[in-house]
Amino acid sequence: MTPSSPVPGNTDFQTDWHDTLCCIHCGCSLRAGRKLCCTRCGATYPIDNGVPRFVAKDNYAAGFGYQWNQHRLTQLDSHSGMPISRDRLMSASGWSVAELHGKNVLECGSGAGRFTEVLCETGASVTSFDISSAVHANVASNGHFPNLRLVQASIYELPFKKESFDFLVCFGVLQHTPDVEKAFKTIFQYLRPGGRFCIDVYAAIVAYTHPRHLLRPLTRRIPPARLYTVVEKVVPRLLPLSMMLSAVPAAGPYLARLVPVANHRYLGLRNKNTLRNWSVLDTFDWFAPRYETPQTRRRLERWTTELHLRDVSIERRRGLYVIRGTK
Ligand SMILES: C[S@@+](CC[C@H](N)C(=O)[O-])C[C@H]1O[C@@H](n2cnc3c(N)ncnc32)[C@H](O)[C@@H]1O
Repeated sequence: MTPSSPVPGNTDFQTDWHDTLCCIHCGCSLRAGRKLCCTRCGATYPIDNGVPRFVAKDNYAAGFGYQWNQHRLTQLDSHSGMPISRDRLMSASGWSVAELHGKNVLECGSGAGRFTEVLCETGASVTSFDISSAVHANVASNGHFPNLRLVQASIYELPFKKESFDFLVCFGVLQHTPDVEKAFKTIFQYLRPGGRFCIDVYAAIVAYTHPRHLLRPLTRRIPPARLYTVVEKVVPRLLPLSMMLSAVPAAGPYLARLVPVANHRYLGLRNKNTLRNWSVLDTFDWFAPRYETPQTRRRLERWTTELHLRDVSIERRRGLYVIRGTK
């Protein structure tokens, strides 16, 4: 198997936007230098490889950092040669390139940057963050976009001005935070009134009936590198069985769920190695996260009502709820 190449040092990344960020303690402006320094309370924030950091280096999402640095390129459209991320973003959100062009977009929990790449290509001004070291995979792949601002920060403490974004995107993140309701409600503080959002979150009804939940209490305690080695060994053995079962007419998708490896047959990836890489990545992604709390439709409806969001639609797509609308 050939996972993505190691993260190279990035020399292109623009950094002249650093002083547009705010202190996460007092909200005041930051002075940019070798590190960022709050002009009021004196708090300082390091800059690692051009990426300002507002969280401890070692945090609960270390497994994600490991995963995305192992698979820096796997899911990027520019690497797969297929518009998988672009199609998912555009069809889930219903937005057009023309609507995004020149707008301020906030992307929450960007991982290796599969959607960062798509957003940057629209010509939007993209601000992206992730709590983990995945930001270094992202900057290595997308740091050449002059319209990207990337920071390592947590949803709960963001260094941005409130209500400063026109669009908000958050895919695959909220269920992996320790307090999903708080995370959901916090990100809306950064969207301007009238701004539009598209968020997805695991659907409880699908996720909780998956056999991976029987193993996860154990596997999430295994150090990332060790768990990854196990996943790398298991996937080539079980994926053929999963593929065979998934080909059974009608019952296929249900039968394949009995085999605890991720199967991306539905994406139309034809190359065997590519299929295996995606499977290793997503099987690890199932078993490693410290937190995974899928949500019910009723809970999502309550939160959107409490936030007085408008034109809300909550649609189930495969194992996810896609929530979109206007603030
Ligand atoms: C399953 S990945 C999804 C990444 C990306 N959105 C994608 O779809 O490829 C979840 C990401 O959420 C990030 N994450 C988890 N908790 C977070 C938090 N409190 N603040 C910011 N990012 C967080 C993880 O580090 C991880 O990269």
